[in-house]
Amino acid sequence: MTVERTSAPTAPSQPLEQQVRDHPERFRVLTGDRPTGPLHLGHYFGTLANRVRLQRAGVEVFLVIADYQVITDRDGVGDLSASVREVVLDYLAAGIDPARATIFTHSAVPALNQLVVPFLSLVTVAELGRNPTVKAEADATRARRGMSGLLFTYPVHQAADILFCHGNLVPVGRDQLPHLELTRLIARRFNETYAAGTTVFREPDALLSAAPVLLGTDGTKMSKSRANAIALGDDEDRTAALLRKAKTDSQRTITYDPEHRPEVASLLLTAALCTGRSPIDIADELGDRGAVALKALVTEAVNEHLRPLRQRRRELAGDSTIVRHVLDEGNARANRIADQTLQTVREVMHMAY
Ligand code: TRP
Repeated sequence: MTVERTSAPTAPSQPLEQQVRDHPERFRVLTGDRPTGPLHLGHYFGTLANRVRLQRAGVEVFLVIADYQVITDRDGVGDLSASVREVVLDYLAAGIDPARATIFTHSAVPALNQLVVPFLSLVTVAELGRNPTVKAEADATRARRGMSGLLFTYPVHQAADILFCHGNLVPVGRDQLPHLELTRLIARRFNETYAAGTTVFREPDALLSAAPVLLGTDGTKMSKSRANAIALGDDEDRTAALLRKAKTDSQRTITYDPEHRPEVASLLLTAALCTGRSPIDIADELGDRGAVALKALVTEAVNEHLRPLRQRRRELAGDSTIVRHVLDEGNARANRIADQTLQTVREVMHMAY
């Protein structure tokens, strides 16, 4: 785990990770996922395992299931409520404790969404247009159709996700850093512009995951829509079948060489993350036994590592009320907090009529 601030440190110089260890009660984590279907190994090692770790360290965790983000860039979103259910099951199976964490959906928290209106007044179109993630997504969609207003402004929406509950620690991947920078800018500008320089919103910090990015089994970015991802909830046979088809290369000797042999390296890394060993050790052990032995080893490692999670997930999925209950509680709690924040915002903006 490495920690990076998204800009010059404004607060104590003590590394963030150390502060979290010493004073978990000072932190509130807000992060989340787009509900596009079940979460996969990339989500797990990229962020989910880290959220569980933070929760166990005593940090309060808020997880937004960002249903309004799914409609930014897709023509058909599929069965959203089924996707939301899968994500909640993945969270719980991975160890998120709903008694301590707050799990909620965008669309169920009106006051959070209303914060987007004053926030939009604080950023320029040019600033939004410079956001590299928005730019990349715009390029990807442009071929098919124009960019929606919601896609263009979703980083502002994401700022509302973080600021409504005064989240101050945001564990994200590198691609999300520009959004966090914008959140910090909005917090600063809100305080200056509407709150006479008093601190209504504090600037959150990013907590960057050190976990390297895993490739999909076809060697491209891991993504559910490309059918190249091992879902946490997949069974052992499906996991084996996906890995058997995984792309490798024609060299018989297994070596850990992420630059020249990315597919083999990603498989080694997957096994390493699952077993706690180093990818180089695993490559040495495999030696010249080739891709078939590598895939068998990875399959065993993944299935072994996920066995307890999958067992829990099956039990949870058999309970017809648990997801409903977790979302009812999480949404109610998020609404209470969002209502309070919006009330403060109204007051400082002289709009409390
Ligand atoms: N955009 C994030 C993703 O695609 C999900 C997300 C929504 C998020 N709101 C957030 C992440 C707020 C961090 C903070 O993964």
